[in-house]
Amino acid sequence: MPPVIEIDNVSFKYEGSERPALLGINLQINRGDFLLITGLSGSGKSTLLRLLNGLIPHFYRGEMKGRVLVDGIDTREASVAQLARKVGLVFQNPDNQIVTLRVDREIAFGLENLELSREEMRERIDWVLEKLGIEYLRKKSTYELSGGEKQLVAIASVLAMKPFVIVLDEPTSELDPFSSARIVKVLGNLNREGIAIVVAEHRLDLFSHRANRIIVISNGQIVREGNPRDLLYMKDISVYGVRPPTVVKLAKSYGVDDKPLTVGELLISMRRNIR
Ligand SMILES: Nc1ncnc2c1ncn2[C@@H]1O[C@H](COP(=O)(O)OP(=O)(O)OP(=O)(O)O)[C@@H](O)[C@H]1O
Ligand SMILES: [Mg+2]
Repeated sequence: MPPVIEIDNVSFKYEGSERPALLGINLQINRGDFLLITGLSGSGKSTLLRLLNGLIPHFYRGEMKGRVLVDGIDTREASVAQLARKVGLVFQNPDNQIVTLRVDREIAFGLENLELSREEMRERIDWVLEKLGIEYLRKKSTYELSGGEKQLVAIASVLAMKPFVIVLDEPTSELDPFSSARIVKVLGNLNREGIAIVVAEHRLDLFSHRANRIIVISNGQIVREGNPRDLLYMKDISVYGVRPPTVVKLAKSYGVDDKPLTVGELLISMRRNIR
């Protein structure tokens, strides 16, 4: 199957900026991928995400080289609204995304461009609320939601459009551990059902065991790429500002050699080593 998103040798420089924010990026996103993008602050993670749904070049001014194909269509030739049906972007801060006063209206808002009948629209809202387990929020005021609930509503609004890729920029940075774990689980479930998930994140503890690929960006370039187990156990990975999960540090300091990524895996490895 062809990749759902293809980035061909893309460089991008924001208007007024001296140096490019992205340089010579080549990346393919496949159906079923759970891709983690990591790297230091300012390395270009958010900029890379903005390429995936056409915010670059349609919304952010600057100079773009190379091309991005979404479902075979060059993003320069599609509108942001057309691309939103294929690639949903969840912002870092849901307050910047939520525009209406009630949860069901919020989900309906994104659907308005899709020219659905009233009945279809209601079905989509029911479907997405049930899917994310947030029926109880249906009639709630958006300004009464907790941070975690807001993030779920933002994901619901994007998911209601039935995109084949959902892109999230540090989706748990404002959340408590419980809400973060819930978001991670929801994303894992959506991924299992065939939606590609792309997450920019510098805290890897939560996501690395869900991802099938990680890329590391440094100064606008992809400097490392691999599956989480191999990549997070690389010797030089901290050079790029990557902080491997605590489990990885523990496994290394105890000399466990089968690359566990979760506490459960670490315990199994340690028991095996003791015997
Ligand atoms: N709207 C903008 N206009 C001009 N320059 C920008 C803009 N957004 C980002 N940049 C610059 O582009 C480079 C990459 O920034 P970007 O926001 O993509 O990094 P990031 O990896 O997402 O960082 P963080 O982890 O802090 O979110 C930085 O040098 C930044 O200053
Ligand atoms: Mg960012």
